[in-house]
Amino acid sequence: MTLEKGHRNWRLEDVDFNAIRREMVSSDERLFYLLASASFVEILSELYTENLIAHYQENRDATLWLKETWQREEVQHGRSFKAYVQSVWPEFDWEKSFAGFMAEYAQLCSLANLESSRALEMVARCVVETGTSTLYRCLHDCAEEPVLKQILANIKADEVRHFGKFRHLFIEHNRIEKKGALPIFHAILKRMREIDGEDGYIAFKHAYLCRSNCPENLDLEWRRFKSGLNALIVRHYPFNMAIEMLFSLVPLPVFPKKLLEGLLIRLARFLFANPLRKRASTS
Ligand SMILES: [Fe+2]
Ligand SMILES: [Fe+2]
Repeated sequence: MTLEKGHRNWRLEDVDFNAIRREMVSSDERLFYLLASASFVEILSELYTENLIAHYQENRDATLWLKETWQREEVQHGRSFKAYVQSVWPEFDWEKSFAGFMAEYAQLCSLANLESSRALEMVARCVVETGTSTLYRCLHDCAEEPVLKQILANIKADEVRHFGKFRHLFIEHNRIEKKGALPIFHAILKRMREIDGEDGYIAFKHAYLCRSNCPENLDLEWRRFKSGLNALIVRHYPFNMAIEMLFSLVPLPVFPKKLLEGLLIRLARFLFANPLRKRASTS
């Protein structure tokens, strides 16, 4: 895929990492773990790409775009976060931590993890791009350090474009497969459960073990990190944007779609807010 007309993509070399105002971010542990984890997962997109290309080998448009645009941009996201982490937290051994992450995470990436339906695998990819678009928008809106804000602005725009391309490919494949609302909805929920699962924990674990002298506190620190992330999400996450993106994949008439969207936005806000209240009441 070529970029949209008039669109000029950004390059890592354009980011001035010397201009980072370290004093604004260096004491922010939650930000460190978020950015270190994001750097690991984004750089490993190379593994996904090989799997996806094999899955769509008959679709030349898809394989070209995956190889020449998507993979390059995802790896650039990872390298940007890596460079930022190394600039702000130079004592952190990123290479060692990443090696531990890669050894564990690579075992989870195989063709067997892909949906057998090509249309539904594109739905799963759209869920991932919705997750990254909305999380980076949330972080961007909270960021005050100017270099980080610029990096996040660049990356969130890329993720929204990725969603658009995957959605286009989903529509193309679904013209043949004709999947209805139920299997699409099921594929969305399945991928959402997976996002909440292993990769985040594995990334945190290797960043934490490399940074801390107390490996026995890993689970405690993970729960603390998740609780902090939850608080950020409750206050700043764009729930409307996420639900609207996901529902743009579901073929339903306008009225029930809008009704369901509204209900799910409220439900998602409640589910994220509720654990915080529970913890507060038991402490
Ligand atoms: Fe990305
Ligand atoms: Fe992406």
